[in-house]
Amino acid sequence: MEQYAIKGGTPLVGEVEIGGAKNAALAILAAAVMTDETVVIENMPDVRDTNVLLQAISSIGGIVERIDRHTVKINGSQIRDLAIDGDYIKKIRASYYLLGALLGKYKKAEVALPGGCNIGSRPIDQHIKGFRALGADVSIAHGLIIAQAERLRGSHIYMDVVTVGATINVMMAAVMAEGQTIIENAAKEPHVVDLANFLNSMGANIKGAGTDVIRIKGVSKLHRTEYTIIPDQIEAGTYMFAAAVTKGDVTVKNVIPKHLESISAKLVEIGCEVEESDDAVRVVASRRLAHTHVKTLPYPGFPTDMQPQITVALGLSQGTSIVTESIFENRFKYVDELTRMGANIKVESNTAIIDGVEGYTGAGITAPDLRAGAALVLAALAAEGVTTIDEIRYIERGYEDLPQKLKSLGAQIEIVDTEKELQKFRLRVG
Ligand code: UD1
Repeated sequence: MEQYAIKGGTPLVGEVEIGGAKNAALAILAAAVMTDETVVIENMPDVRDTNVLLQAISSIGGIVERIDRHTVKINGSQIRDLAIDGDYIKKIRASYYLLGALLGKYKKAEVALPGGCNIGSRPIDQHIKGFRALGADVSIAHGLIIAQAERLRGSHIYMDVVTVGATINVMMAAVMAEGQTIIENAAKEPHVVDLANFLNSMGANIKGAGTDVIRIKGVSKLHRTEYTIIPDQIEAGTYMFAAAVTKGDVTVKNVIPKHLESISAKLVEIGCEVEESDDAVRVVASRRLAHTHVKTLPYPGFPTDMQPQITVALGLSQGTSIVTESIFENRFKYVDELTRMGANIKVESNTAIIDGVEGYTGAGITAPDLRAGAALVLAALAAEGVTTIDEIRYIERGYEDLPQKLKSLGAQIEIVDTEKELQKFRLRVG
């Protein structure tokens, strides 16, 4: 089984190009089937999640043509099947975005009910509430969510919690409903805005994305477009924290610094220097990190998808830090792995109390999910000695070329598949 072998202790130095935002891509690829004309999407990250969604789109009759690694053409005119196979939902939860897209376009869709996942239970009540408010009949039977409507009608929807997924799904369905829809308490994440911009470029009429009230005037048809996905906030944030934990000097390029403000602010608080330019951010860490407190919140708060990475950094900081996870209930499972590397962290329900240690030590560990997996890579880069990380398929869901990009910054990291390859790596890195 493939694993990462990492020899820590080298400060990361240099520049790294950030790819397109995975979470924006998932919404945009699903929305691309809503027109019968051909849509061209650029800056698409070549990661497992986007590739699985493209397969799901092909499986229902969508025509997917890869122009190059980061550009894809999608044509939804041949879609005949409005049911998404349960296997796709098992592989990526976000294939449920096809529910909103197909319901909007064809007034009918069926997808398997997404199950729990390893960061806690993830209900879909707000998605269902939104579809119902638009006039759809939504039922759950035999493990499927079936949504259908004679006509979709605009409506006033108040989300009970701030949810990215439901905001996106309901926005897609509402774009082709009759009349006006208002979504209140909407999510404001950059990828919600990116989806709205994409849909508007196809002829939709969406205003207010990026605020907590989104207003949508329904249109009967969407048309062709060419669109470039925004840079990935979380990929960028991960490399920024890689600089912090290795006492490095890394410039993340091709980013929107505004999207990184909550991340930059925390890095400054813990003693890093952060320099912003138009489309790049440089992080320099030259001394031991300081402690701080952080609570994850919806955008523009500190993202839950950066919680494991900041916890890894605070585990090495001087003094006691507190991390509060307010979005997902079970997002500290990786702490056990970090403890094996020498961290001193106590978890009490949704709070981690962290007593910073001088350093981590290499160990054999396992990635429990995507972002925690990336955070463990950061811990390994900072650690003394060699770490091996299993289950790298989780990390590959959302990070394109992670080992190559880290190597270009001076990291000693290799994908190894056998004990012999691991021995070779150990000999080489000494
Ligand atoms: C998206 C992101 C994920 C990120 C999360 C929070 C994608 C593909 N995934 O996930 O990386 O960690 O936003 O920024 O973009 N909730 C309900 N009812 C619902 C829906 C959600 O109670 O119907 C709750 C969830 O349990 C959670 C909170 O709302 O506590 C936020 O979840 P949500 O924003 O929907 O997360 P996702 O869209 O699943």
